[in-house]
Amino acid sequence: MQTIHVDNVSKAFGTLEVLKQVNIRLEQGEFAAIVGPSGCGKSTVLRMIAGLETATTGVVTANAKPIQAPDPSRVLIFQEHALYPWRTVEQNVGFGLELAGMSKTERKQKSDAMLEKVGLAGFQKYYPHQLSGGMRQRASIARALVMDPEVLLLDEPFGALDAITKITMQNELIRLWEGTGKTVLLITHDIDEAIYLADTIYVMSPRPGRIVETIRSTMPRPRNRNGADFVQLREQIMKHLDLAK
Ligand SMILES: Nc1ncnc2c1ncn2[C@@H]1O[C@H](COP(=O)(O)OP(=O)(O)OP(=O)(O)O)[C@@H](O)[C@H]1O
Ligand SMILES: [Mg+2]
Repeated sequence: MQTIHVDNVSKAFGTLEVLKQVNIRLEQGEFAAIVGPSGCGKSTVLRMIAGLETATTGVVTANAKPIQAPDPSRVLIFQEHALYPWRTVEQNVGFGLELAGMSKTERKQKSDAMLEKVGLAGFQKYYPHQLSGGMRQRASIARALVMDPEVLLLDEPFGALDAITKITMQNELIRLWEGTGKTVLLITHDIDEAIYLADTIYVMSPRPGRIVETIRSTMPRPRNRNGADFVQLREQIMKHLDLAK
């Protein structure tokens, strides 16, 4: 079980003020999303939770302990999906397990089961360049999920996908998440994606990024992208992002 708190966090890179007094609370099992304009510091927030970056002021904690380094219980999927081109799908998916010292047989069992879940059964021996973009993204999600992390940090995981694959992947992500008790924090530029997936949506301002609104959503799943409550929430978020006409 892990509760993540981002408490009053500000971050500067040299003279560039990137984040200003950001507060985020993630409860175990929660699906949260951050939306905000490009360059407002979203990836930086995620990297801090992953233990790859430190706050200038304020603190990021897991179960009240400051996060100071990466931990296998929190897995980050990068904005540019990062499969090793010289490793096959199963070698990529099994990489973290290999580092953790798991036997080859056990690795194979786990990675096969996960590849089945993300719809990549039969593609174990393929190299990344032999897959479609959506398949590569699914492989990188499988690589994270196979580690069975408590916290899954997703940085624009579907940003580069076409509209159809994107919707399929969103549904698969919900299916994989439901009933696992895993905490998910997803970063997206896509307002509809945040509304479709998340229980809590943090809306950020342009740099220096602040949380301008925290929205709790109780819309039942599966969510109707054209439903009145969906449309209303979209308008609310667009207003906060200053995008309303
Ligand atoms: N290691 C770094 N050194 C210096 N500046 C950095 C570093 N990492 C990020 N920045 C700066 O911090 C700002 C926020 O970057 P970040 O990647 O967090 O934005 P983002 O909200 O994820 O943007 P996008 O939506 O385009 O991915 C940018 O101006 C960027 O130049
Ligand atoms: Mg980013």
